[in-house]
Amino acid sequence: MTFPAQRLRRLRQSPAMRSLVAETRLSAGALILPAFVREGLSEPKPIGSMPGVQQHSRDSLKRAAREAVEAGVGGIMLFGVPEKHDAEGTGAVDPEGILNVAIADVRAEVGDELVVMSDVCLDEFTDHGHCGVLTDDGVVDNDRTLEIYAQMAVAQAEAGAHMLGPSGKMDGEIAVIRQALEETGHTATGLFAYSAKYASAFYGPFREAVNSQLKGDRRTYQMDPRNRREALSEVEADIAEGADMVMVKPAMTNLDVLADVAEFSSVPVGAYQISGEYAMIEAAAERGWIDRKTSILEALTSITRAGATSILTYWAVDAARWIREA
Ligand code: PBG
Repeated sequence: MTFPAQRLRRLRQSPAMRSLVAETRLSAGALILPAFVREGLSEPKPIGSMPGVQQHSRDSLKRAAREAVEAGVGGIMLFGVPEKHDAEGTGAVDPEGILNVAIADVRAEVGDELVVMSDVCLDEFTDHGHCGVLTDDGVVDNDRTLEIYAQMAVAQAEAGAHMLGPSGKMDGEIAVIRQALEETGHTATGLFAYSAKYASAFYGPFREAVNSQLKGDRRTYQMDPRNRREALSEVEADIAEGADMVMVKPAMTNLDVLADVAEFSSVPVGAYQISGEYAMIEAAAERGWIDRKTSILEALTSITRAGATSILTYWAVDAARWIREA
């Protein structure tokens, strides 16, 4: 019998050996916890399609942020759920709006121990659920939306966010927001651009999480999942406009894009493991069909291996604990 000299099993023979040669390592500080805060709640409210995730009250959000710090998580991304919606999403620009007061709450709680991030997008605040305001014909009006994003961004910076996450996929949003921040003296406020954000059925549970009013879809502004090269145009534009970080989203259905962007980008690359990815693993684990912890860590590892510097994940706190225990 002839045998190859290279026996690849040698380096897999024990946990210590595997650990010694592992190319990919997870780190708690690279994880970002997306969190929802809902106006008018006195108790957190569970999200049915995302077991273990809640719409927070202002108080429970502060406790969740503290818990994230203790677990060693790197950042938190805040989404607001207002009581009232209107056509222009005015709750988004109001300094007393739920998201803006929650940013201030969290900054007061954690200071600089956690990178405090917030969503710059109108979908949570509009009564039609789109990420921007509409023309009379019902089309999302790119440039009028940009004016509102600029105000929203300044309000969030003023509330104390370290970094803003423009997620609305309007053309020019990074440039317009960067300029508004510079003009108002918020030169240290960073921009984490949702550059390669694809239209996706896997955002389903998020719609429940933010009580979304959307009918229809976002295909006229989010990317078409059939396109790979276009992601590089999005990233190139956002970096030129002043993005400090860029993102690929959803993560697991776009690992090829993530690998491309990681190679191409001159700024750190984040990936968002979204609500549907969370729901699928939780549901299968609940039925005993897959092992929960192993599946979560495997998913986070594959996203890291594909090239993510930072990962938004609803499992940030659990995962950070597991990583630090290991
Ligand atoms: C838009 C936004 C969405 C998500 C994050 N920011 C929803 C969408 O674009 O439809 C989805 C995140 C998730 O599914 O976990 N503000």
